[in-house]
Amino acid sequence: MYDHVELPALYRLNHEKIDIQHAQLFACLMHMNKLIKNDDKKNNKQIEEALNDVLRFLRGYAQNHFHYEETMMKKNHDPNFEHHQKLHAAFLNDLIALQLKGTKEHKNKMTILTEIALFVKNWYLNHILQEDKKIVDFENKLSSKT
Ligand SMILES: [Fe+2]
Ligand SMILES: [Fe+2]
Repeated sequence: MYDHVELPALYRLNHEKIDIQHAQLFACLMHMNKLIKNDDKKNNKQIEEALNDVLRFLRGYAQNHFHYEETMMKKNHDPNFEHHQKLHAAFLNDLIALQLKGTKEHKNKMTILTEIALFVKNWYLNHILQEDKKIVDFENKLSSKT
């Protein structure tokens, strides 16, 4: 949906499919950063549309990508499955909460977009680089035994 962006080496887990999916999220983050930097060049309506697109993308991403990881974990009998699944559920809940809070407090759309960009950035640092890394490490360990 967003222009392809090469995933920086720092963010790669060296799992082909998962890295491709994470690159889609990274592309969305770069798209948000661009919108935030060019703040003055868009009117409110355009920002609102961009924000709705981002939210739609994130919901779809969460559905497809989390399903992919959870299926992989089940297949591997990964003992971390339940914990990881809870973290995935929290992503969507926290995203919705952020959006609702913004609307309730009448924050402008650019502020909400900025908060969502920060939320996704933190997800990269906390979830992808730490929790998702464990899934990949676990699978690698399994395949090294066979
Ligand atoms: Fe992931
Ligand atoms: Fe994950």
